[in-house]
Amino acid sequence: MQIRIASDQPWSVEADVLAVPLTLDEPAAGDAEVLAELDRRLGGGLAAYREFGEFEAKAHKAGLLRASGLDAGWLLGVGVGSAAEFDRLAAVRLGATVIRRLAGRPVRRLAIWLPGSLTGLEDPDPASLALLVARGVVEGGYEPRALYREDYDAAPPALDELIIIVTGLDSGTVLAAAERGRVIGEGARIARDLANRASNDVSPQVLADAAGDLARDHGLEIDIIGPDRAAELGMGLFLAVGRGSDNPPRMVVLRNGPQGSRDAQDRLLALVGKGVTFDSGGISLKPADRMEEMKLDKAGAATVIAAAVTLRRLAPQLPFLAVAPCVENMPGPHSARPGDVVRALNGKAVEIQNTDAEGRLILGDALTYAEQLGATHLVDLATLTGAVERAFGKLVTGGFGTPQGWWEAVAAAGARQGERHWQIPLVDDYVPDLESWYADFLNTGGAEGSLVKSGLFLREFVTRPWVHLDIAGTAYLRKATPWAARGATGSAHATIVELALEGSPAVPGA
Ligand code: BES
Ligand code: MN
Ligand code: ZN
Repeated sequence: MQIRIASDQPWSVEADVLAVPLTLDEPAAGDAEVLAELDRRLGGGLAAYREFGEFEAKAHKAGLLRASGLDAGWLLGVGVGSAAEFDRLAAVRLGATVIRRLAGRPVRRLAIWLPGSLTGLEDPDPASLALLVARGVVEGGYEPRALYREDYDAAPPALDELIIIVTGLDSGTVLAAAERGRVIGEGARIARDLANRASNDVSPQVLADAAGDLARDHGLEIDIIGPDRAAELGMGLFLAVGRGSDNPPRMVVLRNGPQGSRDAQDRLLALVGKGVTFDSGGISLKPADRMEEMKLDKAGAATVIAAAVTLRRLAPQLPFLAVAPCVENMPGPHSARPGDVVRALNGKAVEIQNTDAEGRLILGDALTYAEQLGATHLVDLATLTGAVERAFGKLVTGGFGTPQGWWEAVAAAGARQGERHWQIPLVDDYVPDLESWYADFLNTGGAEGSLVKSGLFLREFVTRPWVHLDIAGTAYLRKATPWAARGATGSAHATIVELALEGSPAVPGA
């Protein structure tokens, strides 16, 4: 998909569809004139559609109108709500809603007019607005029903050209930003694809192979650690989970930049992602209800692998690590049992009380390994607890971090990309609940504060600035929305890319 920035009037842009954002409030002066001229050329169509209720300015409402009199074939009126409440998340959803509303239609060239009421906002600033809208178009264009179906014909259209219409802005800056949004969106699609694929299709080996193919295509270094080397290294937590399945575990390690190198902020950021290709619970077997969702328990790994590709494309010189422990959590004769005591890579003895708390086990060793490889700062992404979804739903990612400044850096990067995060406290009073009689600690500690305890457990495996994002709620949707399909969302991909790019000396369009 090519992106072009046009400063022409919206009615003289040639395209299959011209998308026109509609705000609830009175349009700003310049916008009102443009809307009036569009309306005039449509023979009063815009006003009539609005009056008839086909065009609504309510966010995520969208209606199509044949656009005789314009150089575009069709006009898509798309509601964005009130301009005062329009934020970065709304910008992503605007782009995504536009492309999804066009699903199944023969659209090759899409123009989106960004009115002055939106480009005039302080936040998002105009370049960020273009970035977020372009990202939204690419992410919204993702269709999981095309993954296994050969004849699926209701997918959002694959565009040849996206034309962003803005006036009075430096088009070079806007284009650079929009291109960056496109690349971030493409990364999110990689993450969604890997996460959505079925567990019989994607074993730990297949996930590692997919990472290998991406690494080769994009020039990333990759190391894939199997059970023998994991045993030599002492990854007892990772192996305890991995050995329960016939599909052997793989620790995927991606690196960019020479060994020992640091980014412009003197960091070596490690992105660590939980890669449970299926979580049956193991011997602590899960109930059958909704167990099929546990194919998405690899979303964290999918997202850090995709983010490595995105970063390599946007900042080829940027040093970083991505570590994805990939396992299948299954019951069987080789599975870890409740009561087993295993030795972590950092030397601590862990009593496995519940084999369904497997994410924290594999992440413990992955975090330690990332530090051994020189990581100075860590962010892990994991579908770790059902509790985080009960607390925050599917639209807010809960997380932990220490020190506080590092949490704030991650949350701020997320906010710049329109992703929502909420911090959960690491309450030390709950540490005694994780005490084990036989070992250094347990992997679970009772129902009270279980979400807090998941963070406290992971904290045992880090000595450097660390943030854990629990994406169990946000990683996938159970039903489609106007801006996204059901299934994997790629949540936190944009956040960690934005965060890592802070270490890049020259960021185009920033
Ligand atoms: N993968 C699950 C968490 C999960 C649940 C993700 C629902 C998405 C939707 C995780 O491995 C798990 O089983 N967590 C347990 C932890 C418990 C045993 C302490 C949970 O949340 O019940
Ligand atoms: Mn589990
Ligand atoms: Zn799990």
